[in-house]
Amino acid sequence: MANDPNDSAHDPSGVVAQFESDAVGVEDLAALEELRNNYLGRKRGVITALFQSLRELEGDAKRDAGAAANRARQTISGRLDEIDASLQSVARASREQAEAVDVTLPGLSDPLGGMHPITQTLHEIQNVFVSMGYEVVDGPEVETDWYNFGALNFPEDHPARDEQDTMMLAGDLLLRTHTSPVQIRYMEQHQPPLAIIVPGRVFRRDTPDATHNPMFVQCEGLVVDTDITMADLKGTLDHFAKALFGPETRTRFRPGYFPFTEPSGEVDATCPACHGEGCRVCKGSGWVELLGCGMVHPALFENVGYDPTKVQGFAFGMGVDRIAAVRYGLRDIRAYYENDLRFLRQFTS
Ligand code: DAH
Repeated sequence: MANDPNDSAHDPSGVVAQFESDAVGVEDLAALEELRNNYLGRKRGVITALFQSLRELEGDAKRDAGAAANRARQTISGRLDEIDASLQSVARASREQAEAVDVTLPGLSDPLGGMHPITQTLHEIQNVFVSMGYEVVDGPEVETDWYNFGALNFPEDHPARDEQDTMMLAGDLLLRTHTSPVQIRYMEQHQPPLAIIVPGRVFRRDTPDATHNPMFVQCEGLVVDTDITMADLKGTLDHFAKALFGPETRTRFRPGYFPFTEPSGEVDATCPACHGEGCRVCKGSGWVELLGCGMVHPALFENVGYDPTKVQGFAFGMGVDRIAAVRYGLRDIRAYYENDLRFLRQFTS
């Protein structure tokens, strides 16, 4: 029995066949390690056992079985190396796939904000005047009664001082109702010649509706020099209207009243939407109101210590919200301040 070549303990071909069938289920390196131990492991490896069983044989049988066992060991160890290599390459491929960077994918980007339509319009207004040499100046939103009204030649009983219109703060402080007080503040600190524009927020006790907000944006202008006439005012504002709304734009000057200018005027421009034909934006008139203006009242020069017999000037003030509404054909200016992204996104370029 010990020399029986069919004894499975001495039959390497059966071992190799068994190995191949065990190897079928090996799908990862851990299972392969177990397989290797089962066959080549020193303690309980099948091949090790095979060699141990040779001790029972003798002579040719021992030699033949030994040679066969060696072949089986080589075959199995070669196969183990093969399987190892192929599992390694599968593992590498799947690791590479997992780590792969697809350079053709679109990148992740932070969404960019856009400029508010009023800010865009304000920048365009500023650009027109800066290109004519004006300086951009600002001033406080909390003002005194003197700068907001008194120094601007408002009579004591002027209705604009009424609490209905002005948001009063403690003492004689208030939220400025217009950007005109910066005219006074700037002239106090500077000597002519000067040319400034003053963009800024202003506040009035208005109930919001389609054409009013309690807070809105104005842009003021002031020019003072020794030879300023109304022709300078008209030429400047006509150029401004054309620069803002297009070269075909025409302007008209109507008489007006402001305490801080004399004479005072109101300027209309041909409607940029219909070029004067009449449309929804200009309510059929063909004209849109652009701004208020006038020649600086001598009382202001006195209030800041200029000699009104030596200097003249012109001033103007416009509502930026309203000009933007005309530009964009907006019916309800409350939309500016509602922070509705569906509205605001329409103005991002
Ligand atoms: N401050 C005026 C207002 O809020 C606008 C204005 C009119 C400003 C005429 C001026 C001006 O500088 O000359 O209604």
